Amino acid sequence: MKAVVFEGESNIRVEEKQQPAITGPKDALLRVTTSAICGSDLHMYEGRTGLQPGQIVGHEIMGVIEEIGGAVTGFKPGDRVVLPFNIACGYCYNCHRGYTNMCLTMNEHKAHAAYGYVGMGPYRGGQAEYVVVPNADFNCLKLPGRPFDEWEDDFILLADVFPTGFYGAELAHVSAGKSVAIFGAGPVGLMAALSSLIRGAAVVYVIDFIAERLAKAKELGAIPIDIRDGDPVDQVVRMRGESGALRQRLHPGEEKLAGVDCVIDAVGYQARDDHEYAQEKSTQVLQNMVRLVNPAGHIGIVGVYLAPDPKAQSDQARQGIFSMPMADLFDKSVTIGMGQCPVKRYNEHLRDLIIAGRAKPSRIVSHRISIDKAPEAYDKFDRRVEGYTKVLIKFSPPKAA
Ligand SMILES: NC(=O)c1ccc[n+]([C@@H]2O[C@H](COP(=O)([O-])OP(=O)(O)OC[C@H]3O[C@@H](n4cnc5c(N)ncnc54)[C@H](O)[C@@H]3O)[C@@H](O)[C@H]2O)c1
Ligand SMILES: [Zn+2]
Ligand SMILES: [Zn+2]
Repeated sequence: MKAVVFEGESNIRVEEKQQPAITGPKDALLRVTTSAICGSDLHMYEGRTGLQPGQIVGHEIMGVIEEIGGAVTGFKPGDRVVLPFNIACGYCYNCHRGYTNMCLTMNEHKAHAAYGYVGMGPYRGGQAEYVVVPNADFNCLKLPGRPFDEWEDDFILLADVFPTGFYGAELAHVSAGKSVAIFGAGPVGLMAALSSLIRGAAVVYVIDFIAERLAKAKELGAIPIDIRDGDPVDQVVRMRGESGALRQRLHPGEEKLAGVDCVIDAVGYQARDDHEYAQEKSTQVLQNMVRLVNPAGHIGIVGVYLAPDPKAQSDQARQGIFSMPMADLFDKSVTIGMGQCPVKRYNEHLRDLIIAGRAKPSRIVSHRISIDKAPEAYDKFDRRVEGYTKVLIKFSPPKAA
């Protein structure tokens, strides 16, 4: 079978690999129909993780079940499913409490397992024609419809970025009437914007440097803030201050709430310097969030902070130490939540929003490619050029309608 294989820094190749086989009674073999490239794959692609060459990558996977082990009871060959990028057991202390992102049994080295990701266990990735799903009864989400129908490109986003954006909104306590700012208009930031609007936010600002991505944010109903026009925190504060209606409705003392209630980091440790996009400044977003969040507000961090990082700019960052203005956070009584998304907690309900026509996450998909084009797509997505925002790898041509 064809698979996307990491061969070293900036070196992704499409290789012929042996088709995997189920080994345990709880496994299923999935024939992949669509797999997506993620901002998280780029940390490995850029040589920031120490991933060894030869690994099949890809953790955003959907397809059709081809074969099941003897103990799988909830699925049968022919079923259409999408997989949470987290691989979980369903019975450990954390899985019981809904923290499938911190499953204690599927990765012998630490809490959390995933497909095709460094440090996340021995599981092969799904940017390939076939992948094995461990604990299939727990790790598959059943989908209606047929492969390559009008929902295919929405359902694939249930593997990661739609639930992750929703989780960012949950960690930031986004609910009806709240004001929200999201750093990053990549797929995760855009899905955090969509999710915030679904959750009833009054206003959502999305901050980035990239015009095409900000245009998508606007299309989704958010207010784009282009960092190239000036300090993003100042821009949001000024915009809110200049709004006559917002000014008129202030109670005494509310002028101290010049920022927003909820702030989401959808960028992570590879954040760019606000003054120079070519430069990395790992703490840029962390610092901006502390400035922009209102007293008693909430911050959700879903952008990844990873260590060890062989290419970090400082010794501290190499070890994963990123400084935040703690005194300001304490002074403002801010709560912060962070981490990998427990996809399984959200994917069913988000699937049903898609089925009901209340969410169309595929509006952020920029490119649909065959697997042979993966190296070129990684390169362009990594450089964030030519509108490359969310790339889907398609494994067979869509059927004629
Ligand atoms: N927590 C999770 O479960 C989870 C899941 C998926 C992805 N992620 C992480 O989310 C992050 C975003 O991934 P993505 O797939 O959206 O793609 P991405 O990495 O392309 O998106 C990041 C965006 O942030 C913008 N950006 C860079 N510096 C910025 C700054 N200072 N201020 C504002 N915007 C800035 C970039 O221009 C880019 O558009 C990555 O770190 C990824 O690893 C986390
Ligand atoms: Zn992902
Ligand atoms: Zn578990």
